[in-house]
Amino acid sequence: MSRRLLVTGGAGFIGANFVHHWCQAYPDDRVVVLDALTYAGNRRNLAAVEERDNFRFVQGDICDRSIIDQILKTESIDTVAHFAAESHVDRSILGPGAFVQTNVVGTFTLLEAFRQHWQVNSQPADYRFLHVSTDEVYGSLGPKDPPFSETTPYAPNSPYSASKAGSDHLVRAYYHTYRLPTVITNCSNNYGPYQFPEKLIPLMCINTLIGKPLPVYGDGKNVRDWLYVGDHCRALDRVIHFGTQGETYNIGGNNEVENITLVQMLCQIIDELVPDLPVRPASDLITFVKDRLGHDRRYAINANKMKTQLGWTSEVTIEQGLRLTVEWYLTHRDWWQPLLSEEYQTYYRQVYQ
Ligand code: NAD
Ligand code: DAU
Repeated sequence: MSRRLLVTGGAGFIGANFVHHWCQAYPDDRVVVLDALTYAGNRRNLAAVEERDNFRFVQGDICDRSIIDQILKTESIDTVAHFAAESHVDRSILGPGAFVQTNVVGTFTLLEAFRQHWQVNSQPADYRFLHVSTDEVYGSLGPKDPPFSETTPYAPNSPYSASKAGSDHLVRAYYHTYRLPTVITNCSNNYGPYQFPEKLIPLMCINTLIGKPLPVYGDGKNVRDWLYVGDHCRALDRVIHFGTQGETYNIGGNNEVENITLVQMLCQIIDELVPDLPVRPASDLITFVKDRLGHDRRYAINANKMKTQLGWTSEVTIEQGLRLTVEWYLTHRDWWQPLLSEEYQTYYRQVYQ
């Protein structure tokens, strides 16, 4: 079946990688991106697909019911891939309101619009609403705890993860109550091309290139399970095509690393690839700074269900993925330099000083 997709948040990091993946894998499918172009959205992330006949970009907010209704109807959408969100934990600590608005109210608005569209069209079984969520909804693990599985109880700790948990519960309820054909994915930390430089890996990469301190929170021993974004997009593809309605799938990279180790690995790769660094070795820039409020200690994903039911496993090791990512940031200075704007500097001062 050829599909007609609405991709919310498609001008952001994972959304844009997903759009590239989908357009390449399924060139006959229609792809419509709805994105508000907040600070994190960037139309240039979609430059490679903008000229395609079956691609369309719409600037708009997922809290705006009329624009969603219009797209669902005029484009005969059968599949929603919902990425749009406020996504950065540090920003949710500074200002939680936008997270509740976009992540909870926005998801609710989208669900209501899609429910009506699905019902008006006689509830086709092959419609899909993919809700892209996070492992942070499960809370924080101790060093010996087993990784999060799909049955781990929710225990969100930040305003960001609480707002994502709220949206997950709404999606779950729409399946349970209305049998709306939804699927939820909860994935671990993504990294790769087009990631906004507020997140750990691009921030460290860019700071090294411009000779700025590398701010490591607390003792640097927090653990994340790193997932290369290309692996994530392949997983979402499997879930849309073969996932069971009403189910949740955990997606992880099987790459648990302490932050300080990860930053040292990055520094080594950059030392090797860049002969004229402002500070060398790059690790001289590492600076321990005040910890993030409520900082979760460890995340890890058990992705067995993805493997046994949908035949997916992650393929990119952390060493390979970091190298690919560093090479991308090295060759795309024209992409990230404009992002270090006045707004970004203000944000940076608020978090790091
Ligand atoms: P991002 O911040 O890079 O991009 C978010 C996109 O959503 C931007 O293009 C932004 O303009 C758009 N957006 C924000 N508010 C909007 C609104 N009200 N209406 C329409 N568009 C809006 O985020 P990302 O890292 O690509 O994350 C995508 C999704 O994946 C999010 O739902 C996030 O919670 C989830 N997720 C991300 C990670 C990660 O490591 N990055 C891990 C797990 C889950
Ligand atoms: O686990 C999935 C989540 O991963 C997603 O849901 C979020 O959208 C995404 O932002 C990410 O959240 P984290 O808070 O884990 O990612 P971040 O890149 O902000 O931080 C990764 C780790 O690095 C975390 O332990 C905090 C630490 N850190 C981060 C920054 C930005 C630092 O030590 N210094 C920093 O400057």
